[in-house]
Amino acid sequence: MLVTGATGGIGAAVVRAATDRGYHVMAAGRDAARLDQVCGGVPGTSPVLLDLRNPADLPQPLAGLGRLDAVVHCAGVADVASVEETSYSMWSETLAVNVVAAAELTRALLPALREAVGHVVFVNAAPNLHAVPRWSAYTASKAALRELADSLRAEEARNGLRVTTIYPGGTATELLQTVRAQFGRPYRAADCIQPATLASVVLTVLDMRDDACLPEVSVLPMPRR
Ligand SMILES: NC(=O)c1ccc[n+]([C@@H]2O[C@H](COP(=O)([O-])OP(=O)(O)OC[C@H]3O[C@@H](n4cnc5c(N)ncnc54)[C@H](OP(=O)(O)O)[C@@H]3O)[C@@H](O)[C@H]2O)c1
Repeated sequence: MLVTGATGGIGAAVVRAATDRGYHVMAAGRDAARLDQVCGGVPGTSPVLLDLRNPADLPQPLAGLGRLDAVVHCAGVADVASVEETSYSMWSETLAVNVVAAAELTRALLPALREAVGHVVFVNAAPNLHAVPRWSAYTASKAALRELADSLRAEEARNGLRVTTIYPGGTATELLQTVRAQFGRPYRAADCIQPATLASVVLTVLDMRDDACLPEVSVLPMPRR
């Protein structure tokens, strides 16, 4: 399995859950030291250095793959800025990391995924996130990611590939903490979905028998009692 954003809150939890389940996990990230923290001493993991702003050059461990059971696209950036404040480079980076890299990586890995009759999981945005002031680049990238997933699912069904989009509500990670601060909204990790819970949803999706597919899964935090 390949997990992007493996150094992030959700990605690292997926790496842990998947290795616990016995998967060999290639953990992709752009920061070698942080990748070592995720993979160091964890049997069944291997780090893959990959900056998703430029995913066209596949690193060697991925270029030579014959079979791949799953790709879990967790990497993402989520800058908060009005349209007026969003520079060309911010638009470019957001679209590159959040959607173009996911498309390009998937494209490059399709032969190996088809060989394994595998699964592609896209971690999208919160359910029904739409027309949010000061978040157009992020919401636009996630709308495009949904379209990518839906087209891929329709195209690859004949090859047995399953494609799932997961829509997580607020999950306790650095990204959410930063975003909430930028919107001036409170953040309390205990009120959020825990990354390990979201990872268990990813594993449930991957564990499903192959006579059915979960096209979309929304995950909502439960209010604390
Ligand atoms: N947390 C939430 O509440 C929430 C809710 C809905 C959806 N999501 C989605 O879930 C996914 C994971 O989010 P998270 O909360 O786990 O965020 P996170 O902790 O900030 O993790 C984001 C990951 O993306 C990686 N990344 C960013 N730019 C990259 C680049 N150029 N090349 C390679 N990797 C790059 C980061 O690597 P670095 O550490 O090197 O920056 C990090 O590993 C995102 O797609 C996000 O949109 C999150």
